[in-house]
Amino acid sequence: MAGATSLTAGLATLVIALCGVRGQKATCHTPTKTTNTFYDFKINDVFDEKLIDFSDFRNKVVLVVNVTTYHGHTHQYNGLNALMTDYAGQRDFLVLGLPCNQFLKQEPGANGTETMNGVKYVRPRLTPLFNLTQRIDVNGQYQHPLYRFLKSYCKSVRTEYRPSSTLFYQPKEIGDVYWNFEKFLVGADGHVKFRYSPSVQPIDIRPDIEALLGRHVPVVG
Ligand SMILES: *[C@@H]1O[C@H](CO)[C@@H](O)[C@H](O)[C@H]1NC(C)=O
Ligand SMILES: *[C@@H]1O[C@H](CO)[C@@H](O)[C@H](O)[C@H]1NC(C)=O
Ligand SMILES: *[C@@H]1O[C@H](CO)[C@@H](O)[C@H](O)[C@H]1NC(C)=O
Repeated sequence: MAGATSLTAGLATLVIALCGVRGQKATCHTPTKTTNTFYDFKINDVFDEKLIDFSDFRNKVVLVVNVTTYHGHTHQYNGLNALMTDYAGQRDFLVLGLPCNQFLKQEPGANGTETMNGVKYVRPRLTPLFNLTQRIDVNGQYQHPLYRFLKSYCKSVRTEYRPSSTLFYQPKEIGDVYWNFEKFLVGADGHVKFRYSPSVQPIDIRPDIEALLGRHVPVVG
């Protein structure tokens, strides 16, 4: 028994170590205590005009991405759109983009109109095909409860942190390091299944989406 236990522990460690090396994807666990479910959340849309009601996402696989406009990963808007197109009409997968509030601190006058203008400026031919929420905080004291919820399921895939929090607010540093497209994939049961680092391209998440939709066995590795 003890041998089997330690073997299991060894395997678990190995898996974690491999994930650490790749630094791209974390498999989430179900927290023992959850105060709310994914379907309890409601957030205004980017224009603050209508409420995005997460109870509409029941039985769907949802990719939650915190997006930002002025960043090297902004090209991922294209990949996110492509996913929406791929699954268009099937109604069982969707992307939800959450512009982060930290962006607001760089653009004090910003609102939904400005966010969308920013996206147009950086990606002139692009209109997001997915819902964008109003800006939220994803970290720190004022983080949105949705992010507390998502993060309670899985640890960060990031292996190194900037030591000084002041760097966070210096424009050049933000663009390079912190303003990223981290992703959470939520299953049709409302549980967070995977967390991906910003460099993971939307298309690379397809096997996991397919697996969660029960289409076919995911590609390993
Ligand atoms: C946007 O969110 C609403 C939930 O309020 C949902 O009904 C709708 O299908 C979503 N649209 C897209 C394109 O994901
Ligand atoms: C958004 O902000 C800009 C600049 O501060 C302002 O001109 C515009 O009227 C605002 N739009 C809305 C819908 O609040
Ligand atoms: C995205 O969310 C992660 C936490 O999930 C955070 O570390 C990162 O700073 C956020 N980036 C943006 C642009 O909001």
